[in-house]
Amino acid sequence: MSLPAMNKRVVLAKRPDRGPITPATFKKDAAPLRQPAEGEVVVKIELLSIDPAMRMWLVDTPSYIPPVQIGEVMRAGGLGRVVQSRSDLYKAGDLVHGLLGWQEYWVGPASALEPRHTPEGMEDIDHLGLLGVSGMTAYFGMLDVGRLKDGETVCISGAAGSVGLIATQIALAHKRCKVIAIAGSQDKVDELKALGCKTVLNYKEDGFARNLRKAGRIDVYFDNVGGQMLDLVLAQINPYARVVMCGAISQYNTAKPYGVRLTPQLISMKARMEGFIAFDYEKRYPEGRAYLADLAKKGQIKYAYYVTGGGLDGCVKALQDMFDGKNYGKTVVSFKEGERGTKL
Ligand SMILES: NC(=O)c1ccc[n+]([C@@H]2O[C@H](COP(=O)([O-])OP(=O)(O)OC[C@H]3O[C@@H](n4cnc5c(N)ncnc54)[C@H](OP(=O)(O)O)[C@@H]3O)[C@@H](O)[C@H]2O)c1
Repeated sequence: MSLPAMNKRVVLAKRPDRGPITPATFKKDAAPLRQPAEGEVVVKIELLSIDPAMRMWLVDTPSYIPPVQIGEVMRAGGLGRVVQSRSDLYKAGDLVHGLLGWQEYWVGPASALEPRHTPEGMEDIDHLGLLGVSGMTAYFGMLDVGRLKDGETVCISGAAGSVGLIATQIALAHKRCKVIAIAGSQDKVDELKALGCKTVLNYKEDGFARNLRKAGRIDVYFDNVGGQMLDLVLAQINPYARVVMCGAISQYNTAKPYGVRLTPQLISMKARMEGFIAFDYEKRYPEGRAYLADLAKKGQIKYAYYVTGGGLDGCVKALQDMFDGKNYGKTVVSFKEGERGTKL
């Protein structure tokens, strides 16, 4: 395959102020596509994962991963095909996953990539969603950190998002668990009810706090959102509850972070609140993937993808759409001609 001389990319133009990112945060450019050195491969990117954490990677504060530097290609997990190989690890045509970034081609050491084989009945895109970081986050968050047991009441915020949709269905697959799902639109409420959630609340509706109180006390809170919603849930945790600090998306974009007030509840309820990062479970990913593939095979997980087309031109919009809550399920940018829309 002949490769273009130039590689189109989207780089970080300037660090955003607090508040939503704007197109001016990034800029499109092109750089010479270099030849692979010994041990390296060239990958043509097919799908890119869009994640809330990207907002954090733009800010220069200590975190689990260094920030993206000004002028650097925007970091993103992605899926692509090897098109040139100077490594024994891969041959042309192999499907690989890695931190490929917002660009058309990735060139680098083959050892930085992971091979991907798509199981029967699943699609390549599932490596970014159900079998990807979202799936692993939901699985280890709910079962390892949350230690969900049959018969418990579990509340999930951001329940119609990429991680939330899987966490919700893991809870639904447990015997006699009562699931309280929270999402931000009537469409999402309807979708979650159709999956079998008995109590689904729209946090943007008047009376949300009252409705949450009416939904009853909570043993496991899988928190994707943080902020005031965390306080509302802390007010009604059961003794020995587990509060799984998965994410705090309500705070990533906000100009004025919310100070959580009800942490003393953790004392009186002898409860545990624990943050985690899915990458720390990497060695156990096969276990998580096998569990989720099995649920999917038994029809106990219905997953969805919000696919933005246009390749590089779709990246900024996809990130903005996700923060605006337009996605149901995993947000993905496709480089394939004409591929966009919600994929169920
Ligand atoms: N700990 C880890 O290792 C790990 C790994 C992956 C992701 N995460 C975290 O998990 C959370 C979910 O990630 P995801 O990839 O599954 O994203 P996602 O839920 O697919 O997309 C984000 C969703 O957040 C909701 N949202 C946006 N602003 C909000 C606000 N102010 N208040 C409440 N909800 C808001 C929107 O849904 P609505 O329509 O419902 O508002 C939106 O669809 C994020 O906080 C992320 O940082 C953690």
